Amino acid sequence: MTTVTDRLKREIAQALEFYANIGVERLPIQVLKEVEHLVPAAEPEQPTAPQVIGEPEPCEPETFKTNQRKLYELRSQMGNCQRCRLAAGRTTLVFGSGNPCADLMFIGEGPGREEDLKGLPFVGAAGDLLTRIINAMQFTRDEVYIANIVKCRPPQNRDPEPDEVDTCMSFLERQIEIIQPRALVLLGRVAAQSLLRVSTGITAMRGTFKDYKGIPAMVTYHPAYLLRNPKAKKTVWEDVQQVMKIFGKKALD
Ligand code: URA
Ligand code: URA
Repeated sequence: MTTVTDRLKREIAQALEFYANIGVERLPIQVLKEVEHLVPAAEPEQPTAPQVIGEPEPCEPETFKTNQRKLYELRSQMGNCQRCRLAAGRTTLVFGSGNPCADLMFIGEGPGREEDLKGLPFVGAAGDLLTRIINAMQFTRDEVYIANIVKCRPPQNRDPEPDEVDTCMSFLERQIEIIQPRALVLLGRVAAQSLLRVSTGITAMRGTFKDYKGIPAMVTYHPAYLLRNPKAKKTVWEDVQQVMKIFGKKALD
């Protein structure tokens, strides 16, 4: 039988690894807090968590190729997109990257400076942190798919305007339709409000699965927010553990 102590040991080991990965210092204090929090939390299931959907599985080579082709066609449809004013300020359109059959998809807000220059999502400082979060979740960047609400960098990284979001949204919706991920992680307020079409604040929304067309969507803080507020990393770890759990990645028992 697995004892509470065994479970706690594993939880502490996982927490230690995560904090080390994301560069949190003063580990002993963090770990003490983690233990305090885990003792009561270890027993009940999160009532909002959807059922376990099991370990991610590699898709059939045919499906992989078909999805890849469909994504390529979608990218071609965007072409040298001039559908909104963001076109004027961009260097490169950032479509998205990753596994065309991904079980897990991360949605950000829009490209920043580095992304605009490289044409890839989440390749700057926030991207490094996102990579570490993905790895701590026992996924790799190649296994997941990463995309943004708007595909072109807003000037000075301002929030995208509602009409810019509206203009770009059908492309993200189509990406999700093609990839058919089994779970989504929505990074930050803009991603969550835009995709779910709600105006609820991020603090009220985060930490629970929302429904996006039948796909469980976990809302959490944006990695750029975590760079400014490192204390919130603990919260994000709690949020993404719920996602790990539905993929059978968190052995509590
Ligand atoms: N922030 C985002 O929301 N998306 C990116 O691709 C990079 C930073
Ligand atoms: N505000 C946001 O827009 N996003 C976050 O993740 C946190 C605060």
